[in-house]
Amino acid sequence: MVPRIGTHFAGYRIDALLGRGGMAVVYGAENPRLGIRVALKVLAPELSDDEAFRERFVRESRLAAALNHPGIITIYDAGEADGSLFIAMRYVAGDLRETLRRDGPLQVGRALAVLGQVADALDAAHGERLVHRDVKPGNILLDVGAAGGLERAYLADFGLTKLLGSSIPSIASNRFVGTIDYMAPEQIENRTVDGRADLYSLGCVAFECLAGSPPFPRETEAAVLWAHMKEPPPHLSERGGSELPRGVDDAPSVPHGQPVLHAYEPSVAPAKARPFDFTRGA
Ligand SMILES: Nc1ncnc2c1ncn2[C@@H]1O[C@H](COP(=O)(O)OP(=O)(O)OP(=O)(O)O)[C@@H](O)[C@H]1O
Ligand SMILES: [Mg+2]
Repeated sequence: MVPRIGTHFAGYRIDALLGRGGMAVVYGAENPRLGIRVALKVLAPELSDDEAFRERFVRESRLAAALNHPGIITIYDAGEADGSLFIAMRYVAGDLRETLRRDGPLQVGRALAVLGQVADALDAAHGERLVHRDVKPGNILLDVGAAGGLERAYLADFGLTKLLGSSIPSIASNRFVGTIDYMAPEQIENRTVDGRADLYSLGCVAFECLAGSPPFPRETEAAVLWAHMKEPPPHLSERGGSELPRGVDDAPSVPHGQPVLHAYEPSVAPAKARPFDFTRGA
């Protein structure tokens, strides 16, 4: 059963529809016991029919909840109610996808502030050997700090893509898991991924933050996938606004045509997921 506005679900009072994704609906809700607002993500009911999926859901929710980092969305609760699996998490008013749609490319300083927080969060997760697998603007939630203070970025949906991608053949088999605009070559090839796939995706997000569109905007999905695999990374200077500093194209990139996984051997991989300092050499 899908919850309706004004009703209770899993002990939360549902008061708004916040958005829909491929496999879930997200509601605004109140936890009446604590008096706090939460975002309640309710997965498609057919997912809860699969016992193995339910078990993995619990496991992944525990891992995500254990990631105690200021740049990773806090998970308050997860479980099953009225035949649907749900996750209750911190409510955050905005996200990077909406912000880019509304404001266009970000100023360099703002982009670096947001990306730096996401990079820190990924470092922490990778330190625990956890890979996000779906780093994209829609999964980077943004909160303007109190009294217009520092904008805070929170990475959402940890582990969810892995979960959705690895089971429920009837639903997931013909569907790429993750979002292809930001997807690393090794993910496209369905090979084992590690934290470097997240860094590739973060690089694509960084490109979009500065250029206003992802690195490979193409007419068809097949063309996007091909471009990730075979085409050289585009130059930001050709697509970015006039505000971009000189030297922006000198950011380290992967040798043409090589999947990131192979191109960056551990010995030469950047130790930290910090974005390139675009101001150097400007
Ligand atoms: N913690 C949250 N607080 C407030 N709004 C949220 C929160 N999490 C998600 N949302 C809203 O719900 C929408 C749907 O989220 P969901 O994660 O289901 O899909 P998605 O990430 O947009 O796409 P996909 O299904 O491809 O991953 C988001 O775009 C966002 O606007
Ligand atoms: Mg999401």
